[in-house]
Amino acid sequence: MAQPMVASEIADHFAQVFGTRPQIFRAPGRVNLIGEHTDYNDGFVMPAAIGFSTYVAVGRRPDRKLVTHSEQFADHFEFDLDDLPRQRIGSWCDYVLGVALALQQRGLKLGGANLLVHGEVPIGAGLSSSAAIEVASALALMSRSTVHLALPEIAKLCRQAENNFVGAHVGIMDQFVSCMGKSGQAILLDCRTLDYQFVAIPSGVELVVGNTMVKHEVATSGYNARRAESEEAVRYFMKWDPTVRALRDVSLDLLNEHARDLPPIILKRCTHVIHENERTLAAARALAAGDFAEIGELMRASHCSLRDQYEVSCRELDLMVESAEGLPGFIGGRMTGGGFGGCTINLVHEEHVADFAAQIADRYRAATGINPQVYVCVAGDGAQAVTEPPEPAP
Ligand code: GLA
Repeated sequence: MAQPMVASEIADHFAQVFGTRPQIFRAPGRVNLIGEHTDYNDGFVMPAAIGFSTYVAVGRRPDRKLVTHSEQFADHFEFDLDDLPRQRIGSWCDYVLGVALALQQRGLKLGGANLLVHGEVPIGAGLSSSAAIEVASALALMSRSTVHLALPEIAKLCRQAENNFVGAHVGIMDQFVSCMGKSGQAILLDCRTLDYQFVAIPSGVELVVGNTMVKHEVATSGYNARRAESEEAVRYFMKWDPTVRALRDVSLDLLNEHARDLPPIILKRCTHVIHENERTLAAARALAAGDFAEIGELMRASHCSLRDQYEVSCRELDLMVESAEGLPGFIGGRMTGGGFGGCTINLVHEEHVADFAAQIADRYRAATGINPQVYVCVAGDGAQAVTEPPEPAP
């Protein structure tokens, strides 16, 4: 895992750029253990926050400007808080702008701010670097307001910013777990009600993330197409049962009853979502009971369904999943996140983790010719302030 730049280094860098001491906030990326492509279908997910975070350092400005600076990207932006762009500008800064605008639309009066962003969540790897920057920015910007929203509200607001400003039609999972994650725990989240419960990851089990290092062009269009297909499916079911509002409401019986009335592609998509919701609830029970054989089975079934029914996997993800099979200490694995590239998640017994990480990388390299990155993670805490506010200037 990348060495986190310690808060004092970020503060020093902030002082070099802006000449004052900042307060620093951070928000983590995530892996999803199971429950994929269910969040926007009002279903269940079971993600965990991971040790990679995005840090946003913030300092006050006497004027009404929002000035943003990134450690990773060379550009530097200045905006007028009273006249923020209403449309994305096509930069990393859109995540910050979208959140600032959403906070203002929510009625928060933001004071002028300098922001420095330090990201350590791998970008484009399906580990939710976007949710991390959104949530950390929301905390940083809120420190320049007198109104403070609760974390679940921040999650909703950040999702809204990503949907409406950035233009990515994602569900609530990533922002929610980035806000609410807890050390050693996965979160079983009902994406309709936002009711949630923590499910402890059994001690001695670690999360090993295999980054395929590919992200296919179709990732965004494929994601949007799956959302559209889900909506089409709901329209069919509403004709047969007017109480259906989302695929979450379609039972296996209703699906079976109408299997022959659905276009084949729509049937496949529904089959995934409806079974994946069942698998997610079953996995939460199995995790709580320490039933590793069952968890392994459910994760395998989830991956196969994402590959064959929902069709969001790809050759590299399948090879990374196959590379884990049979390795000592392996409990279960599957693709994680939106798919079409990105990462797999593996649950592995701690004493085998180092060998597992080396061997999965060797096997994947041999199969694809691509050098993967493998991250050994534990479930971490959600978003928080990492330093106190600086002393006011005399
Ligand atoms: C992406 C989205 C999430 C979710 C997953 C698929 O990570 O941001 O909202 O839909 O894909 O489960």
